[in-house]
Amino acid sequence: MVFKVGLLGLGTVGAGTAEILLNPALRHPLLQEIEICRVGVRSLDKPRPVTLPNSVLTTDLAAIVTDPDIDIVVEVIGGLEPARSLILSAIAHGKHVVTANKAVIARYSDEIFDAANAAGVYVMIEAAVAGGIPVIQPLKQSLSVNRIHRVIGIVNGTTNYILTRMQREGADFDAVLADAQQLGYAEADPSADVDGLDAADKIAILASLAFGGRIKLDDVYCEGIRGVSAADIAYADRLGFVIKLLATALREPPTAAGDSADQLQVRVHPTLLPKTHPLASVNDVYNAILFEGDPVGQVMLFGRGAGAGPTASAVVSDIQNIVAILKTCGGNPPNLHPLLACIHTHYCTLRPMEELVTRFYARFLTHDMSGVIGRLGTCFGNHDVSLESVVQTGYKDDLAEIVVVTHDVREGNFRQALDELRGFEAIAAIPSVLRVL
Ligand code: HSE
Repeated sequence: MVFKVGLLGLGTVGAGTAEILLNPALRHPLLQEIEICRVGVRSLDKPRPVTLPNSVLTTDLAAIVTDPDIDIVVEVIGGLEPARSLILSAIAHGKHVVTANKAVIARYSDEIFDAANAAGVYVMIEAAVAGGIPVIQPLKQSLSVNRIHRVIGIVNGTTNYILTRMQREGADFDAVLADAQQLGYAEADPSADVDGLDAADKIAILASLAFGGRIKLDDVYCEGIRGVSAADIAYADRLGFVIKLLATALREPPTAAGDSADQLQVRVHPTLLPKTHPLASVNDVYNAILFEGDPVGQVMLFGRGAGAGPTASAVVSDIQNIVAILKTCGGNPPNLHPLLACIHTHYCTLRPMEELVTRFYARFLTHDMSGVIGRLGTCFGNHDVSLESVVQTGYKDDLAEIVVVTHDVREGNFRQALDELRGFEAIAAIPSVLRVL
């Protein structure tokens, strides 16, 4: 039996995918039953890193998704359009779809999975989150017997690379970003990575699987790393922390009497992480995801979150999963496999950030007057914010620098205290406010 694949895109991930499919030896024997039938590209003249017959290449991507010979469409062109429309058209024409497109899935999963379920086809997304690290299949299958109460991930390699270099070199964000761009580790327009948007797409997808409901991307709190300074990394280091961009999905039991539903949070923000935490030593471009579930406990997965080979590994494993099902069902699955299809349809309600209970780190620049630390402490106390430590370490441009770490506090209370403190004559600036795990 031969299963025919139409590949949309022959960039980094597309070429990596073709490379595996064209060289099946010493891999799973099922790969020998998969044929790249057509490949959609923007230009036919470009030099290619993989050798494919010219007859396979076409610039007519719409013709691939409607081609009656093709069983599986693999979308690796990225971006929102025409990727979304091509995926929907492929589904409408009865094709199974494999995509690496986290941006499309995080925004349009409702219409895509509704259409796929109605058409009886699979949409597989392993490559959309954390590249070569298997996270989607473990959540859908091996871990799905657990109640997952927390997913914490370092899911963006660019920001992890920048923060790691800032930590090692004592350098500021702008200098490391510029160097990372020159070296090709960061995009010319770095916004999707450094502003946390890429990580927000990924944690929205993971949260949806972990909580068994749809997540509206607009409900995901997202804060990037532009505000993290060399000074904060140095203070964090002295206090026993590293700073990482963490993507978190958290499920907690109802807090107030009368609440029946679990409390859900999904958020991305730089976080002070104790140096002893399992994610603290995940450095450079590496990604890692820590799952906590009942009864399994902690499970951590680590690896490369981007790049041709790792992402293609995830893409091809999805193709292979579909082929395995088509093969056992004679090519015409009567019902979607319940562990591979995406069947939930309700939307999760997420808790607003002001209700988050967490520790905070804040750095203040104050005029060197008597009683400043006392007034800080009193103001925090008035807002029910209990302090774990207050350190005055030095002077910066004639201003005293004071670093505060709180105990667990309600975010809304902490923000109210900060608003009040900004009005104090002695407080010149509050350059940094970061959450602490
Ligand atoms: N730009 C992403 C990263 C990889 O830096 O991890 C693709 O999601």
